[in-house]
Amino acid sequence: MQVVILGSAAGGGLPQWNCRCPICSLARQNTGQVKPRTQSSIAVSPDGDRWLLVNASPDIRQQISDNAVLHPREGLRHSPIHAVLLTNGDVDHVAGLLTLREGQPFTLYGTAGILDSVNANRVFDVMATDVVTREAIRLGAPFEPVLGLVVTLFSVPGKVPLWLEDETMEIGAETETTVGAMIEAGGKRLAYIPGCARVTDDLKARIAGVDALLFDGTVLFDDDMIRAGVGTKTGWRMGHVPMTGPGGSIEALADTAIGRRVFVHINNTNPVLVEDSVERDRVVSQNWTVAHDGMALAL
Ligand code: MLT
Ligand code: MN
Ligand code: ZN
Repeated sequence: MQVVILGSAAGGGLPQWNCRCPICSLARQNTGQVKPRTQSSIAVSPDGDRWLLVNASPDIRQQISDNAVLHPREGLRHSPIHAVLLTNGDVDHVAGLLTLREGQPFTLYGTAGILDSVNANRVFDVMATDVVTREAIRLGAPFEPVLGLVVTLFSVPGKVPLWLEDETMEIGAETETTVGAMIEAGGKRLAYIPGCARVTDDLKARIAGVDALLFDGTVLFDDDMIRAGVGTKTGWRMGHVPMTGPGGSIEALADTAIGRRVFVHINNTNPVLVEDSVERDRVVSQNWTVAHDGMALAL
């Protein structure tokens, strides 16, 4: 199985268009101290030829452009992207669907809970409805979006997308609106969980033994955004478990058998983004990798 992390940042990317926090500022300076990053998406293939895109970020045009394996390579119109899967309905995971127009056939997969929010919004009909099939997938039911790649979706603690929040919203609920994907090919298993509010025993049991885990790295501490002075929201409020602190993912997953541990969906306020920082070193010393754009895994 081949995996490419197309975009390793959370919503907003790095630098975020309107942000002058120290990390975004360093990313703009281009000194290598903070690598710029695009928004959350990965591509997975059983053979390097046919690809499943998991989440369609607003930066998808740049991501396809930057990764030759995703370039068209036959006839006048072609794409190696055979299918797209959504793990939630957040803007950073669905806005890229608007770029996938131009009459290119593919299948769009997600739970009914996630596809409902896409289906309810007519702007997404720019994905030509006669060639783009939308297929709702049940939790726990394996499917094969690309021949040779078997995917199973499972719910993780989360919340509805920010743009669908209302007074009934429940944080940490395990529903169809935030899912993880277990992706299997050639006897190898990858767990992709870019958004998760809490590490539960159920989650640990599910991912035990995977060859690689790509996990929610939005915040280092629950109050990263507050510390950075850019907002009042905690990680919990946004539906993201912190890397460290009580209940943090590093500690909660420390005893689970996992081949490679990689943080993705990293918010621009997260200090681990700074190369050679104490925060980065600390995470690395606990066997985690901080993803960067273009990072590839061969499983
Ligand atoms: C998130 O991951 O919390 C969302 O992407 C937030 C957003 O929509 O900006
Ligand atoms: Mn997000
Ligand atoms: Zn910033």
